[in-house]
Amino acid sequence: MAATGTTASGESAFYVTTPIYYVNDAPHLGHAYTTVAGDVLTRWHRQRGEKVWYLTGTDEHGQKIMRTAEANGVSPQEWCDKLVEDAWKPLWEHLQIANDDFIRTTEPRHTDRVQEFVQDLYDKGEIYKGGYEGPYCVGCEEYKSPGDLLEGDLCPIHKRPVEWLKEENYFFRLSAYGPRLLEFYEQNPDFVQPASARNEVVQFVKQGLQDLSISRSTFDWGVPIPWDPKHVIYVWIDALLNYATAVGYGSDQAKFDATWPANVHLVGKDILRFHAIIWPAMLMANGLPLPGRVFANGWLMVGGEKMSKSNLTGISPRDLTSHFGVDAYRYYFLRAIPFGQDGSFSWEDFSARYTSELANDFGNLASRVAAMIGKYFDGTLPEAADAGPAEKAIADGLAAAAAQADTMIGDNLDFAGGIGAVFDFVKQVNGYLSDQAPWKVAKDDSPEGQARLATILYTAAESLRAIAVLLHPIMPSTSAKLWASLGAEPHLGALADQRIADVATWGRLPAGAQVVKGEILFPRLENA
Ligand code: MSP
Repeated sequence: MAATGTTASGESAFYVTTPIYYVNDAPHLGHAYTTVAGDVLTRWHRQRGEKVWYLTGTDEHGQKIMRTAEANGVSPQEWCDKLVEDAWKPLWEHLQIANDDFIRTTEPRHTDRVQEFVQDLYDKGEIYKGGYEGPYCVGCEEYKSPGDLLEGDLCPIHKRPVEWLKEENYFFRLSAYGPRLLEFYEQNPDFVQPASARNEVVQFVKQGLQDLSISRSTFDWGVPIPWDPKHVIYVWIDALLNYATAVGYGSDQAKFDATWPANVHLVGKDILRFHAIIWPAMLMANGLPLPGRVFANGWLMVGGEKMSKSNLTGISPRDLTSHFGVDAYRYYFLRAIPFGQDGSFSWEDFSARYTSELANDFGNLASRVAAMIGKYFDGTLPEAADAGPAEKAIADGLAAAAAQADTMIGDNLDFAGGIGAVFDFVKQVNGYLSDQAPWKVAKDDSPEGQARLATILYTAAESLRAIAVLLHPIMPSTSAKLWASLGAEPHLGALADQRIADVATWGRLPAGAQVVKGEILFPRLENA
């Protein structure tokens, strides 16, 4: 079973979040990377039979959005509405993201609760008024410490000059939380993952925390501070609270109890400190249970730099899905880059994996098996009459692959490892077919020869039944095509209802299933 939130109750949902994305621009591959990972993780847990809640959304306040709207001659709200409806939501639909909710930080269900949360901290004496002056990066929406800057005034992430800000602000007593945070990390060694991220966070907190400025008074695109509306709440405080407001914090206690806290917050490594330091400290101050895990994924890189729209390196996911298809897209990034590490996107590598792993290893296996069952048995799956050691080895291989994939994907977020385990099994089945050579056995029309042929093709089809289930969270449409081609649904029910726990039970696809050669799963790529 997955690690649950340290204080999560047994019945609460497996709750996963993505970062909420800034809507100053359209989504690129880097944003889609995290959202697809969360989708695979949550689909996997749904197939475990768990109650799941998957949240994504958009971060719409702050200076960055305000300036973008101004530059485009529209109000910030108009800008956000347009980007959300025309760019962000349609992309998630296109990529088959099965999120349960989509929160926008300009919605009243969010802004009202943000005010209540901040008021509560104020009433508890956790917030005070003070002054601050320092270098600020609008791209990060964050004050930087002078030591972090490159060449004196460049943000280390955006590589652009910071601005000097001087403000009278409200401050959250973050510095007081250092010892409690360190104790929490100590008691919950898996709270921050991977280990490199954990080390970074622990080191940072050990150096001592400063109080955090949580309001701005030089612009007004944000949630007003309830007791002093000349100030708006700092966009990061506003944004982090989406994880609570979206699941009923302060409005729907039953839903909140059934969902909170998040089991996994997926974040990019650049926003790790917000999630692993500021966020738990805010929750401690308010008295809410803390999340189970913050997992920091790496960056997709272009030419050695983080891919980003502002550097004009942001590639649109649709530029790839139009060529490779949505399922191959979902597969590629998770298979090619170990989750937690940086990785470079390359068209050549994607094409190579598409052809060898998806089209040749997997797609051909599915079409060959269906074609042979059509040719030799008129499309009716035969009984496995004389299963022997070679078939046992396949059943054992499946059991191992299923167990590994379940732990790796479902518990460890090791998507590359888990998908690799399933594809090792695909290779094993291909090897079995080459060894058994059913096309040769078919020439022997003695009863023994026909029984052997039946066993080989049953074994291959039953393996494909399991492969369809194991790959469903990663490639939902392809798996559905395979499920249909195996004639599985009338016997076993809908693909989405198949449980990971049953996947390795051998012999589920019954003889008599009507196998048809469906459409090609991974068509040959057009020359780009
Ligand atoms: N709005 C904040 C998050 C608030 S969460 C309470 C924000 N938004 S963002 O749009 O700038 O970035 C959102 C996520 O996209 C971050 O996790 C960031 O790491 C990720 N990515 C942006 N570019 C990326 C790559 N090139 N590669 C991988 N992920 C990257 O930060």
